[in-house]
Amino acid sequence: MESLAGYVYKAASEGRVLTLAALLLNHPEAETRDLLGFVTQLAGQRSTPLIIAARNGHDKVVRLLLDHYRVDTEQTGTVRFDGYVIDGATALWCAAGAGHFDVVRLLVSHHANVNHTTVTNSTPLRAACFDGRVDIVRYLVEHAADIGITNKYNNTCLMIAAYKGHADVVGFLLEHGANPDATAHCGATALHFAAEAGHLDIVQALVRRQAAMVVNGHGMTPLKVAAESCKAEVVELLLAHADCDVASRIEALELLGASFANDRENYDILKTYHYLYLAMLERHRDPARPVPKEPLAPPIEAYGGRSECRTPQELEAIRNNRDVLHMEGLMVRERILGSDNIDVSHPIIYRGAVYADNMEFDQCIKLWLHALRLRQKGSRNTHKDLLRFAQVFSQMVHLKEALRPAAVEQVLGCSVLEIQRSTARMEAAPEAELPQATDNYESNLFTFLYLVCISTKTLCSDEERARINKQIYTLIQLDPRSREGSSLLHLAISSSTPVDDFHTNDVCSFPSAQVTKLLLDCGANVNAVDREGNSPLHVIVQYHRPISDFLTLHAIIISLVEAGAHTDMTNKQQKTPLDRSTTGVSEILLKTQMKMSLKCLAARAVRQHSISYRQQIPSSLEEFVELH
Ligand SMILES: *[C@@H]1O[C@H](CO)[C@@H](O)[C@H](O)[C@H]1NC(C)=O
Ligand SMILES: *[C@@H]1O[C@H](CO)[C@@H](O)[C@H](O)[C@H]1NC(C)=O
Repeated sequence: MESLAGYVYKAASEGRVLTLAALLLNHPEAETRDLLGFVTQLAGQRSTPLIIAARNGHDKVVRLLLDHYRVDTEQTGTVRFDGYVIDGATALWCAAGAGHFDVVRLLVSHHANVNHTTVTNSTPLRAACFDGRVDIVRYLVEHAADIGITNKYNNTCLMIAAYKGHADVVGFLLEHGANPDATAHCGATALHFAAEAGHLDIVQALVRRQAAMVVNGHGMTPLKVAAESCKAEVVELLLAHADCDVASRIEALELLGASFANDRENYDILKTYHYLYLAMLERHRDPARPVPKEPLAPPIEAYGGRSECRTPQELEAIRNNRDVLHMEGLMVRERILGSDNIDVSHPIIYRGAVYADNMEFDQCIKLWLHALRLRQKGSRNTHKDLLRFAQVFSQMVHLKEALRPAAVEQVLGCSVLEIQRSTARMEAAPEAELPQATDNYESNLFTFLYLVCISTKTLCSDEERARINKQIYTLIQLDPRSREGSSLLHLAISSSTPVDDFHTNDVCSFPSAQVTKLLLDCGANVNAVDREGNSPLHVIVQYHRPISDFLTLHAIIISLVEAGAHTDMTNKQQKTPLDRSTTGVSEILLKTQMKMSLKCLAARAVRQHSISYRQQIPSSLEEFVELH
């Protein structure tokens, strides 16, 4: 039955209607119903023959299934579209989303529900709006589809069409009563979406319908959104139409110019000057009463320690100085958007990356540190920012560029904070987000170790070293653990600790004798155990490169033993490090290092012979016995 169902599904999926008809011939009714209701899971999709035929546009198959077998049009499945996974989609949703008009017609004429919603509350009409098929949109609306149903973010059909740039669909929806001023959860209107994406014709259509200029959840009007994303034509159009005051006008022009200075896709330094200059003229239109800039914040060192230009003359003076204009742009953006705006940091990071590419590492690090602080102030997830530092630091160490210990220390400090926050995020994560939250948390631990490793290769004074070690000490006190319960020390000596491969692996690798030593110096617990009860010593004796990397193996075992590792500690399987040694080399090293004490021998004897000891010896000794 199951394999027959598989053939039926395959025939429907591939549009082989004769094969399908033959496969369905001469079965009892109940069996046919089962075959056509059977859900096949394939490549992340879960669908029935009808759904997959509709998805793939096989109208003859759909007709056969509907006319002859009266298959339920309301079956739902999980389908993939453009990399999105859609849960709870009907055949009609799939046909509308994939642009198969014939199939849409067939389904609707067989009474498929035009208002059916998926798990995220998307309708077939929304799917057609996304795809930009005005013919299907018109047909659905003519067949009583509800234009007003929003998805679970209160995002309307009009918004998705506006964002995707389907002007004909937008025009049709507006003519048929779509509300141009509806707002989504994020506070955005269709005008925000069209402005951000830079669809001039759609912005025009919305403005003609008197779409309101409102502020979204990030405090941005459509005008500001367009300026922030370098959509100059949209800005000019909105400035001409909207009755905005002088302040908003100036703000939009400044933001637009500033954004052109540091945008990966839209970089255009001439436009930067052009719009900043227009704004400046606007400020000084009435020489008797110029519009001054807001009280300026103290200059930011990362931006070169300058203040923003205040007069057309000051601006003219930097006209041909690109570096200064770039920084002017960053300053203007931070002032207008506010330091906690989510978009402020991207251009800063971009400009830093350009500096790094030109080997101007100090400039890069200053900018990235500034961006990192802004992002941490806004409680954003910074695991990628921290990794980026490990990468650029590694590149510098590798190229023998001078790396300032203070920078390493500051990034270590930020990564301690990020590890605390990612721990909290992990603990608060709903089940579905837990794997991602755990990945982020672990990647922070790894990044921290890269930074520790980099610090061992950085020239420091005693005082600088002490400040770096203090950050390491702080994290060790928090005792963060990986999924497997590995401590920082376990991770530092494990060859399975992943190393990022963009520059980082030129400098960092694990096991690392230097990192082990440093962690121990900073107070790491040498006898900490992971989930399996393995101590760091248990881990290192399984190192699989005992010959080629003998020095590392040797140095780590010595460090651990000197720091007080118990060579006879047992894990959950009652195995000591010696039992777990996988190579003769580590066995010999261990044996020569083992300093068996009478105390240890006695503890082992107590354990081996199950002699009762609880509450008969000092409690500190009880713990000691339990280690053995
Ligand atoms: C879809 O919803 C609209 C608006 O609520 C309603 O008028 C129409 O009858 C519904 N269509 C169907 C086929 O249920
Ligand atoms: C979403 O829209 C519904 C219906 O219009 C409304 O009741 C609700 O408050 C909106 N939710 C948000 C968060 O805007």
